[in-house]
Amino acid sequence: MERKAVHNHLFNFQIRLQIQSFSSKMVRLRSLILFLSISLSPLIGLSQLCESGLGYCDSGSVVSSKILIKGGTVVNADHQELADVYVENGVIVDVRPNIKVPDDIRVVDATGKFVMPGGIDPHTHLAMEFMGTETIDNYFSGQAAALAGGTTMHIDFVIPVKGSLSKGYEAYVEKAKLSCMDYGFHMAITKWDDTVPKEMEIMVKEKGINSFKFFMAYKGSLMISDELLLEGLKKCKSLGALAMVHAENGDAVFEGQKRMIELGITGPEGHALSRPPVLEGEATARAIRLAAFVNTPLYIVHVMSIDAMEEISRAQKSGQKVIGEPVVSGLVLDDSVLWDPDFITAAKYVMSPPIRASGHGKALQAALSTGILKLVGTDHCTFNSTQKSFGVDDFRKIPNGVNGLEERMHLVWDTMVESGQLSATDFVRVTSTECAKLFNIYPRKGAIRAGSDADIIIFNPNSTFHISAKSHHSKSDTNVYEGRSGKGKVEVTIAGGKIVWENEELKVVPGSGKYISMPPFNYLYHGIDKADENYLASLKAPVNRVKPSL
Ligand code: URP
Ligand code: ZN
Ligand code: ZN
Repeated sequence: MERKAVHNHLFNFQIRLQIQSFSSKMVRLRSLILFLSISLSPLIGLSQLCESGLGYCDSGSVVSSKILIKGGTVVNADHQELADVYVENGVIVDVRPNIKVPDDIRVVDATGKFVMPGGIDPHTHLAMEFMGTETIDNYFSGQAAALAGGTTMHIDFVIPVKGSLSKGYEAYVEKAKLSCMDYGFHMAITKWDDTVPKEMEIMVKEKGINSFKFFMAYKGSLMISDELLLEGLKKCKSLGALAMVHAENGDAVFEGQKRMIELGITGPEGHALSRPPVLEGEATARAIRLAAFVNTPLYIVHVMSIDAMEEISRAQKSGQKVIGEPVVSGLVLDDSVLWDPDFITAAKYVMSPPIRASGHGKALQAALSTGILKLVGTDHCTFNSTQKSFGVDDFRKIPNGVNGLEERMHLVWDTMVESGQLSATDFVRVTSTECAKLFNIYPRKGAIRAGSDADIIIFNPNSTFHISAKSHHSKSDTNVYEGRSGKGKVEVTIAGGKIVWENEELKVVPGSGKYISMPPFNYLYHGIDKADENYLASLKAPVNRVKPSL
């Protein structure tokens, strides 16, 4: 099918199934339609569902498949070798040279190409209600885009409903019924009362969530206080969950925004000017120190500045377990775009923390190549031009977020590997394996080895990629990487043992993605209890004193 036709079908499908509406009535109606579509699909047959407008839906791909990937260089995070990969029923069965199979097995030739684990994006926001609207990509369009770009799993942030974790979880279970690839959840914590720690425990012990995010910014909506952060860090530690922070000083950002408005700066450049790197550095340092005080591991999402990166580096040198996640936009873009005279062009780059002045991106790349920063996310949080226009008179109303799910693998390869800053094995580590290890799903995910899930890409380092909103699979009408091209191309994506992307064509089935439960106590927790014992021993307290007789 022509790419344009694929795109149109996707668009029709989205229109039909995901009636965008801001009224709660319509949101309920949409949930009902989704529920009926997905739950009735086995009854009416996927082929019928496909024929009724599901673009690149392929009922054939629900049949389990056997695939031999022949002649490629298999790249894992620690090693690369010439080998064949045999896949059966969604799982990698064998990895070795010269595997022989019967004639009826599908053979994919990977000669001269890399065979790598599918990407895992640790940071996305699909169908997220935020800043008075909802991200334009839902679990189908966002994941379809991801698959076309070689990412086969992502971890999305569940936002509690009025502070309720369980209601937030239920809402995301509904949204995720459209999934066409595997996914997991992080959970945001936006308030604190007696029920929140109990619900955190349920999320970890019963729902397969092993990470919680605390927003130190977005005053008046998602932002939490230091007091809450401390409570949250303690609870994370007791559950073996990974605490994550959006590190910006939200009070100071609020002040900075007022200052810009008073100065008459209302356009997108005001966004960057109101929240400079020093505010990201301050919050990063504060979160790191509080995590050290509690002695629990910490994950800093979307590290955008030298200031934040240097705080992370300093903490690591002192032995603290701090993970820094750069995102593609922070690695490859600079803030000059926010000064573009065309509002829509500038507004599409508004995200938080902001895209920084040139120099920050290069420093983040260097930190990624030396291991200070460990894995690359996207923070895919996409709004179209109409949504971005909500802030045409006031940058504070521009919904924050950029795309990246489809582009991440290509841009990281081109920027980091083609420049010599990372090797092919490093590429696998920062785009897939490290994420699988941190969120405790390795080696099921993040590896090409017998027993791992068959989430695989075939990557041609001698081909070229091109990025444009005209050809991408996101529902957005813009792309922050518009016009970019570079070396390397994901030619085939295999997700759950099925070929879902080949010859520039997507074949995906809504409802076919699986929820991946993620257990607590990742590798960062090793040694935490010993450190606690040493700390207690070092106190030399309480001192046994004879009470003075008064
Ligand atoms: O601008 C951003 N980053 N939007 C998504 C929400 C967040 O802060 O991660
Ligand atoms: Zn954030
Ligand atoms: Zn985010």
